[in-house]
Parts: sequence; structure tokens; C-alpha cells
Amino acid sequence: MPTNDSQPGTENFGVTTNDFGAPAGSDEHSLTVGPNGPILLQDHYLIEKLAHFNRERVPERVVHAKGSGAFGTFTVTNDVSEWTKAALFQPGAQTEMLARFSTVAGEQGSPDTWRDPRGFALKFYTTEGNYDLVGNNTPVFFVRDTIQFPDFIHSQKRRPDNGLRDNNMQWDFWTQVPASAHQVTWLMGDRGIPKTWRNMDGFGSHTYQWINAKGEKFWIKYHFKTDQGIEFFTQADADEMAGIDGDFHRRDLSEAIERGDFPSWTLKIQIMPYDDAREYRFNPFDLTKVWSQQDYPLIEVGKMELNRNPEDFFTEIEQAAFAPSTLVPGIGLSPDKMLLGRVFSYADTHRYRIGPNYAELPVNKPRAAKVTNYSQAGPMRYTNYPKGQMPYAPNHYGGPHADPSLVTETDSWTTDSEFVRQAYTLRAEDDDYGQAGTLVREVLDDAARDRLVGNISGHLLAGVTEPILERAFQYWKNVDIDLGTRVETVVRESLAKGARDTAGNSSPGTSVDEEQLSEA
Ligand code: HEM
Repeated sequence: MPTNDSQPGTENFGVTTNDFGAPAGSDEHSLTVGPNGPILLQDHYLIEKLAHFNRERVPERVVHAKGSGAFGTFTVTNDVSEWTKAALFQPGAQTEMLARFSTVAGEQGSPDTWRDPRGFALKFYTTEGNYDLVGNNTPVFFVRDTIQFPDFIHSQKRRPDNGLRDNNMQWDFWTQVPASAHQVTWLMGDRGIPKTWRNMDGFGSHTYQWINAKGEKFWIKYHFKTDQGIEFFTQADADEMAGIDGDFHRRDLSEAIERGDFPSWTLKIQIMPYDDAREYRFNPFDLTKVWSQQDYPLIEVGKMELNRNPEDFFTEIEQAAFAPSTLVPGIGLSPDKMLLGRVFSYADTHRYRIGPNYAELPVNKPRAAKVTNYSQAGPMRYTNYPKGQMPYAPNHYGGPHADPSLVTETDSWTTDSEFVRQAYTLRAEDDDYGQAGTLVREVLDDAARDRLVGNISGHLLAGVTEPILERAFQYWKNVDIDLGTRVETVVRESLAKGARDTAGNSSPGTSVDEEQLSEA
């Protein structure tokens, strides 16, 4: 096991006390009837210690359970005020922030280097309230309607019957949901296992709305480009690392910051004029698509630097609560059916996972803005209700009142339709496989394409059976005929040679050997 370089200091923390500050008599011995006798119920210090220990965990996040993060600063380096009035993006602004990186499907103890998208969750403590941008290290996603999210996640996590992950289940879902093709291509490629969190980009992924001081609206996408450069693990290296150090990414970030090697990312955005969205050649709100950078070039906004490790992992990382609904004036939503579902989901899960007053915890509460509203009481309420403030609105005793200008200058868009349960209306380039094919043919080089074939084949060989296997070959042929044919050849030949992992290994990947690849 790797060593932990972060050694405790020698500061004298004083006498042990109970949770209410009274000194304790012993850290070693319970209160008993004589040295060999039974423990006494009136040893309230012991009872407090055991009872508190029993309650040390909150439920882990239902997804993105394994992760870590750090605090830092976001500094604006360019003038983007023509597109947003948000204070954090005004020229020269510096904003304290928190980032949390994670894997999606694994539990708290799962290895950092398993193949998975990586969460890229940011919390900006702005002067206008907190702003959360909860993205991934990929610009797209597996499904385009919120209603499919629980099914998708169930297919990636453990089976209810035997508690095992099951590649068959993953491919059964993906091959029946062609919308997944673009994201699965990213996942099976080099970006599916970043070498460290410092070596990956981050994306807001969804289209968001920006509103400027004149009330004009724009559609935007966020790209956080790593200043450390993109680096990745091959499947074989990642498998090895999973056995050596399951916490490799967590350790790497913490140690880099500890030694003063602060990681940074340059934020760039794509801006689409509001009216372009109506006629663009594909639906710009579809989360399975990226926008062409020729049509909408990247514009620099600023730099995010992570420079402070958490002091307490539980209170500052485990209890950190990010939500796409945590917005500030000048930044809004879009008609993306995934984003709109997420706006409900996160605050709801925080109320369950942490508690209804989760927003009061130091890591979640605003640091540069004040909370003034009528919220009160509930379990573990911490802040006193303001003395003298009537508990309702409107009141004529000087209580807080909303700012009506925000109603007219808020995010909005035009819609005029019946209620339906239907897919987005299709446009010319709204197919599922097109952008995935372009990624394979035009973005990847030969070596990256070879690794992609190897990663897909290895994953399929780890327990995927007919007829799902046949569907998977077709899925990849739809993305790119050459890619699909190569995958089929490698898998079929490996199976013929008896390379199938008979133990039904459903770990997130299995390496295919070089020889099999070069034969394909
Ligand atoms: C975490 C729901 C799609 C990124 C979570 C959590 C839930 C959730 C319930 C756990 C939150 C917690 O306990 O703190 C959903 C739903 C989605 C969706 C319903 C689709 C409708 C996405 C997408 C992205 C994303 C598209 C990225 C673009 C994240 C990240 C976290 C997370 C980064 C971890 C946040 C943290 O570090 O605490 N999601 N999610 N999710 N989700 Fe999603």
C-alpha cells in the first residue's frame, strides 16, 4: 500500500472531553464493577462514544459516491460581460470555490481507476449567492430524457439478486438506447480513465442560458481545459493501479496541493445567439451532442485553481451538496430534458442524504452572500431565525421581500404546445451515431482507435453473452463500420480461443492482448 505522506503534527490538543466539553476520566477503561466486573449503564461517556460512532455515516451518494475534492479560486481573465451579468464572471472578479471529482457507478470504496465518466462538480461562493455547476469530464451523456436516468444507472450498478455488477446488463441497456453511442465512445476511449483528476478536462455538458445586464439571452456551454495536459491510463495500467492503490486519484490531488503544485483549469465557453437555437442543424439542447467549435468557437473566461485541501473529509467533502438548481442571476436553464430533471433531483436527494437543513452546513452555505428568507426550523436547525422578523411574506414589519426585476430578467424561453410524452422533434443532423462516428474517424488517431477497439473488446469479453453481443457489434458498426468489424473480429477470435473470462468477470474492463488487436 502507498504511504500517507500527510503526517499529523505535534500540537497539544488538551484534555479529552465529552461532546459537551466536560473532561473525561479515561480514554482506555470503561466504568466497571471492579476491574473484572460488568460494564455499567451509567458510563454515559462510553455510551456517548459508542452511540456517536454508530451514527458516523450518512448514506453515500446514490451515484458519484467515490470522490474527493479541494477548495480554490476562480479568477476572471477576460471580459464576458456582454453575455452575462453574473457577478462571478465580471472582469477581474475572484471567487472562492470548491471542486469535487468522482466516479459515477462505484461505491465509496471502489477503485479510482475503474473505467467510468468522472464527475466534475463545482461550487462558487459568489457575492450573489452560491452557484453550482455539476458537470462531468465528458461533454455529452448516455440518455437525453431524465425519465431514463434511474434505468441507466441501475444497468451500471449492482444487480439486486446477487449484488454483482454485470457487463451484460450494461450492454443490454446501451445497445437498446442508441442515444448512448456518443458517450459510450468517450467512455471506452482514453478519456474513460484519466491518469489523475488533474489531467482531465471538465464540461458543464448541458446547454445553459446566460443573461446580460440588458436582459438579452444567450445559450452557452462550459469547457474547463486542464492546464496540466490530458493524460490517461491504459486499461492494463488502470487495472494494475486498482490493485495497488484504489485511492490513487484522491491521493494524487491531495498530495499535489499539499506540496504546493496547485492544479488549474482554463474556463472557455461557447456562445450561441438565442435565435440560432431555433434553426441549428441539430437540437442544441440535446445532451448527447456537442456543438461545432467552427460554428461556436471557444472564448476564454478565466482560471480555476485548486489550492486548499479539506481539513475534514466528512464535513467538507462528504457533506458537500451540489445541485444544478443552485443558480445566480445572469445564469439560467435551457429546454434540455435532462437538465430540467436534474433541477429537481439534487436538492431532493440532499434533503434525504444529509437532512433538510443541509444548506446551513459551512461547506454548503453562502460565504460571500447573506441568506435572508422565511425558512425556519426542521431537524438540526442551526441558524437562529432573525430576531424580530415576522415569519411570513408579505409583512409590513420590514421582512425580506423579493426583487421583481429578476422576474423579467430571468432565464426563459418560448414554448407553445400540448402536453406530450415524445422524443425531441428531429432535425437534419439529429441521428444518434453521427457525432460518435466523427469522434472515431476525425478526432482519434490510429493508436487511440486501437486502444478503443481493445477497450470495447475487453469489456465485451468480460461476461457479455448472445444476443447482446451481436447487438453490440451492430451498435459499433453503426458508429463506424471499420471499428465495429474490428471489435467483432477481436471478440469472436478471442472467444474461439477460449479467452472468455469464465468467472463472468464483470469488473469495468478487461485488457485484450496486443496480439489479438494487431490481428484485427
Ligand atoms: C450526483 C441525479 C445526470 C453529474 C448525482 C446525485 C444524484 C444525481 C441523485 C447524487 C447527489 C448527492 O447525493 O450529492 C442525476 C439525474 C440525472 C443526472 C436524475 C439525469 C436526469 C447527470 C449529468 C451529469 C451529472 C448529465 C453531468 C453532466 C453529477 C455529478 C455528481 C452527481 C458530478 C456528483 C456531485 C458531487 O460531487 O457531489 N446525480 N444526475 N449527473 N451527478 Fe447526476
